[in-house]
Amino acid sequence: MALIAPSILSANFANLTEAFTLLNKGQCDYIHIDVMDGHYVNNLTFGPPVIGHLRPLTEIPFDVHLMIENPERSLEAYKKAGADILTVHTDATTHLHRTIQKIRNLGMAPGVALNPAQSLEEVRYILRDVDLVLLMSVNPGFGGQSFVPQVLDKIKDLDKMRKEGGYSFKIEVDGGIKLENAKEVVDAGADILVSGSGVFKTQDPIATMKEFKEF
Ligand code: DX5
Ligand code: ZN
Repeated sequence: MALIAPSILSANFANLTEAFTLLNKGQCDYIHIDVMDGHYVNNLTFGPPVIGHLRPLTEIPFDVHLMIENPERSLEAYKKAGADILTVHTDATTHLHRTIQKIRNLGMAPGVALNPAQSLEEVRYILRDVDLVLLMSVNPGFGGQSFVPQVLDKIKDLDKMRKEGGYSFKIEVDGGIKLENAKEVVDAGADILVSGSGVFKTQDPIATMKEFKEF
């Protein structure tokens, strides 16, 4: 059974408490929080102060996806704000291995993210150190984009690398996932499905989350 991580990027930012009420009722596995800095991606969302205010609204773990440059400068702030998983992009930090170690030493689960056109080779030598590999299935920066189909082969290849290396990291896939294509993503080897518009832009987000859980 896949784990589901709804992304609040598609929720109403002026009423995040309502979104959290839905998430608590929908019993998802993680809450995916997309942090964008206006540099690594053009968009700007929120950072540690907002996340810190959201933390008391739920006990569901926070899966924080940093689409920011030089994330190593603010890891402590995300820990203090209540992040459980902290994921950084390979091309946003100069010393990836050090950043990953620091995330773990701070008591969070480290994740590493790759954009659609990036090769799995970029993470080969960090696989033993991470709890999660996030494969972007859209280019980062916006919700509501279409799934990039060649990522399905990438998930399969990463799953193969995981089995061959005896690793235990989870494979998270992020972008363009809806109920309609979730099965092929899970069949390819994904453990965690991120979905923003596929949850929040549906008529009944609680029922949608329940359906997702059945994959
Ligand atoms: C994109 C974000 C995604 C986004 C997914 O930069 O990392 O998490 O919220 O949104 P959907 O599911 O609408 O593609
Ligand atoms: Zn994300």
